[in-house]
Amino acid sequence: MSDTRTTSDAASGTGTGGGGADPTRAISRRRLIGTAGAAGAAGLVAGAAGGSAAYAATRPDEPTALATVGSASVAFHGAHQAGITTPMQARGHLVALDLAPGAGRREAAALLRRWSETARRLMAGEPAGERDTGVALDAGPSALTVTFGFGRTFFDRTKLAARRPSALDPLPAFSSDHLDARRSDGDLWVQIGSDDALVAFHALRTLLKEAGDAAHVRWQMNGFNRSPGATARPMTARNLMGQVDGTNNPRPAEPDFDRRIFVPAKPPTGTPDWMAGGSYAVVRRIRMLLDEWEALPVDRQELVIGRRKSDGAPLTGGTETTALDLDKTGPDGKLVIPDNAHARISAPEQNGGAAMLRRPFSFHDGIAADGTPDAGLLFICWQADPLKGFVPVQRKLDRGDALSAFVRHEASGLYAVPGGPREGEYVGQRLLES
Ligand code: HEM
Repeated sequence: MSDTRTTSDAASGTGTGGGGADPTRAISRRRLIGTAGAAGAAGLVAGAAGGSAAYAATRPDEPTALATVGSASVAFHGAHQAGITTPMQARGHLVALDLAPGAGRREAAALLRRWSETARRLMAGEPAGERDTGVALDAGPSALTVTFGFGRTFFDRTKLAARRPSALDPLPAFSSDHLDARRSDGDLWVQIGSDDALVAFHALRTLLKEAGDAAHVRWQMNGFNRSPGATARPMTARNLMGQVDGTNNPRPAEPDFDRRIFVPAKPPTGTPDWMAGGSYAVVRRIRMLLDEWEALPVDRQELVIGRRKSDGAPLTGGTETTALDLDKTGPDGKLVIPDNAHARISAPEQNGGAAMLRRPFSFHDGIAADGTPDAGLLFICWQADPLKGFVPVQRKLDRGDALSAFVRHEASGLYAVPGGPREGEYVGQRLLES
């Protein structure tokens, strides 16, 4: 797959989306406002100016033509599955399924074949088939990605235990875990992301219907991120605690990125060949105790992370991208970034180089029985080996992270996500048919 979204301009006739936009209307609108980018900038200026006149000027009665958000598409085929290095989308669904009683390798192979063909079509902005429900009609692919993974139990159900990677050994228990088994694990895991809520729902609904009698939903979680275009320039996302989150993620341009995040094309001894180009996803539903967090003054919140809330810069100075100075002390002789600050404890240099790509969605499932917001982070991290990524870091965070008092890990999953399919291949074929 391509690492970046490709965009096309449907108003000029090159869009891949479902059509629907009247080109004449689109063009007259373009004459008025210039490009979609200029429209976005105008919106921001107007937003800053405030007032209903400005609002009306940027929210015309007629719908906006399919613009960059709708026309962005991500390739289904490639060395790696989509949805790992793809920029985070505004909407996400995570769903785990268990194979139905009596369903085994043959049924699993048929399901992955169906699912792959549907994912390919939907990611290209095509309808799912004859009986498409129409929910995503009029929208472009909207950066849709569908990513498939296998949980530990999948290999028992399909009698493929001999080909199960040892990296799928159960995660250790952590002292602060409050895990709900019914919302954890699962034979199959599907991650759906899109910048449009209807496109994401449509993909989810279509794939679940295609599971038919072969597999049943074990759990589903729904998440979101900031919408593309909501900020004046592309920025690192914020989470529901208000922190800039994702700054120190490994970047694809870094020389050791692939080694850290993906299983190599020639997997090392002990890793099965079918995982070539694959990755392991650790998924944690992390509830945020927002009432407690929000009661904390901002300077105390900043000490919990070790970074400024306003712009994500380290407390030791500079801008968001300046390296943390972990040795710097203040006039009182104390470390500026405290011993138990989250960014200190999770830094690779504190964990023998352990690194992971964090690509989460926020969630908000209303108000819990105790009257507090059921909200937090659907933490998803990607790594070539969970024992060199998530596990050592979480062990350390579990022992002494200042953030622990404000979060609760409520569900957990670990999935082997095979490499991307070649043309004509379905995801997981190298495991299921060889
Ligand atoms: C709700 C729970 C969590 C919140 C709110 C949170 C928030 C943050 C924030 C604000 C940063 C600093 C900015 C950045 O570099 O992204 C950060 C860094 C980081 N977090 Fe978390 N985090 C959470 C859970 C976790 C978990 C469970 C892990 C892994 C076990 C983790 C691993 C990391 C890593 C590796 C970094 C980068 C450290 C560095 O290289 O400087 N975080 N997190």
